[in-house]
Amino acid sequence: MNWSREQRYRRWEDASKTERRKLENLVKQCNWRQTFHIQPVTGLLNDPNGFSYYNGEYHLFYQWFPLGPVHGLKNWYHTKSKDLVHWENVGVALEPTNEFDSHGVYSGSGIEHNGELFLMYTGNNRDENWVRHPYQILAVMNKEGQIKKLEKPVIPAVPNGYTDHYRDPKVWKDNDCFFAVIGAQRKNETGTIMLYRSQNLLEWDLEGEVDIGLNEFGYMWECPDYFELDNHGVLLFCPQGLERDRDSYHNIYQSGYVLGSRLNVQERTLVHSGFHELDRGFDFYAPQTMEAPDGRRILVGWMGLPEIEYPTDSNGWAHCLTLPRELTVKNGRLWQNPVKELELLRGEETEAHITIDNETKGIEGFAGDVYELSAEFSNFTAEQFGIELRASDKEKTVLKYDTQEKKVIFDRSESGQAAGIQYGAVRKCLVETDKISFRIFVDVSSVEVFVNDGAEVFTARIFPDQNSQDIRFFAYNGKTDIQAVKYKLTSKERASS
Ligand code: FRU
Repeated sequence: MNWSREQRYRRWEDASKTERRKLENLVKQCNWRQTFHIQPVTGLLNDPNGFSYYNGEYHLFYQWFPLGPVHGLKNWYHTKSKDLVHWENVGVALEPTNEFDSHGVYSGSGIEHNGELFLMYTGNNRDENWVRHPYQILAVMNKEGQIKKLEKPVIPAVPNGYTDHYRDPKVWKDNDCFFAVIGAQRKNETGTIMLYRSQNLLEWDLEGEVDIGLNEFGYMWECPDYFELDNHGVLLFCPQGLERDRDSYHNIYQSGYVLGSRLNVQERTLVHSGFHELDRGFDFYAPQTMEAPDGRRILVGWMGLPEIEYPTDSNGWAHCLTLPRELTVKNGRLWQNPVKELELLRGEETEAHITIDNETKGIEGFAGDVYELSAEFSNFTAEQFGIELRASDKEKTVLKYDTQEKKVIFDRSESGQAAGIQYGAVRKCLVETDKISFRIFVDVSSVEVFVNDGAEVFTARIFPDQNSQDIRFFAYNGKTDIQAVKYKLTSKERASS
């Protein structure tokens, strides 16, 4: 279906009760609804926003267009959790209400200040000629969860030299000062990041561009995020317009980081050793981080990408968020692991210790569509070995290691209904090692793989048949030892449906 501008800019209230019920029922009938991931009730979810800890709970908002699986008039939808695992749908938090955000409450971040949660976001306005005007706006949430927008934008204009692609403020505090980074496009159509400073979150001074030495690196950088971890500065951003380079940059847009010295806010420099992709899979974009009360740095991403159709579209919804990942620094890189709270989901456990030799083999008790699976491969002589997930006689999602190429390979070409096929169905990444471990989280329509204790991550939506539930281990031209543990995962959602 082609959505007209009028249809994309309708609000939830503009739809009749019957239309809304119809949409909700259509979504409920979908066989690819997730069980332990954050997903929209109806319509389209994109970037995580305002990820924070406030008043004893984690708050995680997301970009939301309720009326269908397209990018239309965006709201912030609010979810909250006490443990980063069980999330409660709170409802719409911010919707377009005035001339500054009339065409979308776009992405932004949250920070606690004076006992309230300050939400800073980009208001997207279009004038009568459909020219875009971005405003950076503040809203404040109190302990009762009531949210009030400030009447006037706190950053009302785009500075000279930049286009109207100017958005996604991410705020942090350093000593007594607040800083914000904003994703921007220079007039010469290259991407960059702007740094602002404030004493009170209400008045902001532009400091200038952050110089990380990547001056011609895509045409726009979205969703920047800056934090410090283990004495390093880390700058995340999403460059659009990079060319494919061997195994890198295969998705429509990229998401990655530079890691190095702490950001020098006077000179606005961060010295680093290069740009690295955060995720080596298919469906990952616009991540945002927060600092947990115990000091952990936690990241959540959008498990999806713009401008790509997904098989759930015909059921009136699209996308979900990734699992929360804890970030650490090792060997000059970010390592990512699922937060330990996810163990709360663990149910029935099955274990196996086997050696397989030039064969493909299922193991008693290993099957399913919602589980956590850890597999450690050692003493291998095989050319390739790995696991087939969500498999049947007609489908499989393949995760393997190639000992010649020294690459982890994720292949969703036979995973069921295809998504984003124009960007290929195979992703690879170099991992030089003599031991491979995969920690895999499978939900009804997604797979997240943490390789070798978080050195690399592969994230993918998959759309297999409900009955494709086999798990098979394989080794080609040689053997490997495998130690595997599987847990059924049980979330409230599935238990009650
Ligand atoms: C990234 C993005 C942001 C923008 C938001 C709008 O996916 O394009 O730059 O604020 O989505 O929904």
